[in-house]
Amino acid sequence: MTRPSIFVTRRWPSPAEEALSALFDVTFNADDRPLSKDELMAGVASHDMAAPTVSDVIDADVVAAGAAGRCRMIANYGVGVNHIDLVSAAAHGIAVSNTPGVLTDATADLTLTLMLMLSRRAGEGERELRAGAWNGWGPTHLVGRQMTGKTLGIIGMGRIGQAVARRAHFGFGMDVVFQNRSAVTGGAGVGARQLASVAEVCAASDYVSLHCAATAETRHILGADALAAMSPDAYVINTARGDVVDEAALVAALESGAIAGAGLDVFQGEPVVNPAILAAPNTVLLPHLGSATQETRVAMGMKVVENARAFAAGTPLPDPVG
Ligand code: DGY
Repeated sequence: MTRPSIFVTRRWPSPAEEALSALFDVTFNADDRPLSKDELMAGVASHDMAAPTVSDVIDADVVAAGAAGRCRMIANYGVGVNHIDLVSAAAHGIAVSNTPGVLTDATADLTLTLMLMLSRRAGEGERELRAGAWNGWGPTHLVGRQMTGKTLGIIGMGRIGQAVARRAHFGFGMDVVFQNRSAVTGGAGVGARQLASVAEVCAASDYVSLHCAATAETRHILGADALAAMSPDAYVINTARGDVVDEAALVAALESGAIAGAGLDVFQGEPVVNPAILAAPNTVLLPHLGSATQETRVAMGMKVVENARAFAAGTPLPDPVG
């Protein structure tokens, strides 16, 4: 009996590749380099299912090519689906799934990493030491700020926002305020206060961390007005998607000293990073590492396996999108 086929646009950690290969005829992208649009269209069209990642743009053309070919299911390797044209997929009757839950802890950990690196000037210190420019311990040398007792503002209090809130509150004694499009009850388990607007969160916080999905509504949710409400001692952290921050406004705020710094793991148009962001002062910049732990990347693959298996069996998807 022929097994359903699935096109996987990148390489995965081996346990997840093995689990997928045990059930399906799998085509992995042997080179593990980002594919061109033509390669994506050809691969998606010639398989029953496709498993892209955040680095693949699955736009209306790719969806249409898939629908005209064999593709009936897109099982995304990742939780964010802003790179997939969901409207086109629905119009063509292509099912979509994602991988919620399994990357919550890894992404929350990386958020705290960025907060700590900024607060304690860890990137600056490492660069100085490696450059041979360290002159020894000094009372005013690379003095940062402590996180303990400060206020964290969270934009988007879903799974990841709540995991960040717990780490900040229980680990560092931070107060938490947040903005979320729907009501979150019980103070998210950390006595967090829900505020009415992003600007109010910005005004109340020493750290503003973004954890909302990237949608038309959240594009540039942190823009010039919200940044203007922040204290000059406050930091912006983004581990969500580049599009949720207005990068031009962020650069202006960093350059003028309107905010103290920014820790960014995601960028508009990544992997190309706006040169103005690279040149801006007081930043810690990472190459989209939020989910990059062995445990999480295996678990993400296993989620794709579960969803593809359900689709092939004609049973409800565990993680449907749309
Ligand atoms: C996601 O899953 O959306 C991450 O950004 C990539 O792992």
